[in-house]
Amino acid sequence: MGPRDLPPLGRDGEAPDGAFPEAFRAQLDHLMRMRRDVRRFRKDPVDEAVLARCLNAIQLAPSVGLSEPWRILRITSDAARTAALKNFESANAEALAGYSGERASRYAGLKLSGMREAPVQLAIYCDDETAQGHGLGAGTMPEMRRYSVVTAITLFWLTLRAEGLGLGWVSVLDPDQLSRDLQVPEGWQLVGYFCIGLPEELHDSPELERQGWEMRQPSLAIETR
Ligand SMILES: Cc1cc2nc3c(=O)[nH]c(=O)nc-3n(C[C@H](O)[C@H](O)[C@H](O)COP(=O)(O)O)c2cc1C
Repeated sequence: MGPRDLPPLGRDGEAPDGAFPEAFRAQLDHLMRMRRDVRRFRKDPVDEAVLARCLNAIQLAPSVGLSEPWRILRITSDAARTAALKNFESANAEALAGYSGERASRYAGLKLSGMREAPVQLAIYCDDETAQGHGLGAGTMPEMRRYSVVTAITLFWLTLRAEGLGLGWVSVLDPDQLSRDLQVPEGWQLVGYFCIGLPEELHDSPELERQGWEMRQPSLAIETR
């Protein structure tokens, strides 16, 4: 069932101004707090019906000019998975070489992808040359198409988490090499490589905080002009 086949939203329990019920808002807040970038996956397969439901969230995302520029490749073959993993390993070694001293040992201790274990792996691209949307908004700022793909990934990420699945975003990659290995069309730009599966553990704080790499800011800074 695609998102457009869903029954109309009921207004039961909604406030007259269209706000969702307080209990729902509390759950949504909880979902956002408990979303994590996951790098440690169980090897159990992912239920295809659940995955399909989560992928539907992508079609609900906003996009500049309604261009829907997301392009999704599911990486299933041994050859494609091996090429992606090799790509990550060499980019990760190169990144490590850019650090020194204590930062280098901390970096070396991080696990920055679950590509060896994750049962589902996707490479998500942005089609920078799509005619859909007739260029609205992208004429002045072409990067808006890529931002649109990121909004879709965020919805997908939260939906996966709500279904008990984890997502790990891998960006330590040579995008040109990956695009050659996956034989993607000209004009597609890599937005990220994604590992999906059942998480080994659940956490309410980022792994990079727990590993002492970086901390979230305690509050949101807002400047005025
Ligand atoms: C655009 C983007 C790229 C990222 N790339 C990586 C990556 O290559 N490897 C990794 O382990 N985590 C990656 N992450 C995850 C971040 O490290 C993570 O979101 C951050 O530390 C906060 O943790 P949390 O997502 O669990 O709240 C990426 C996240 C984003 C949004």
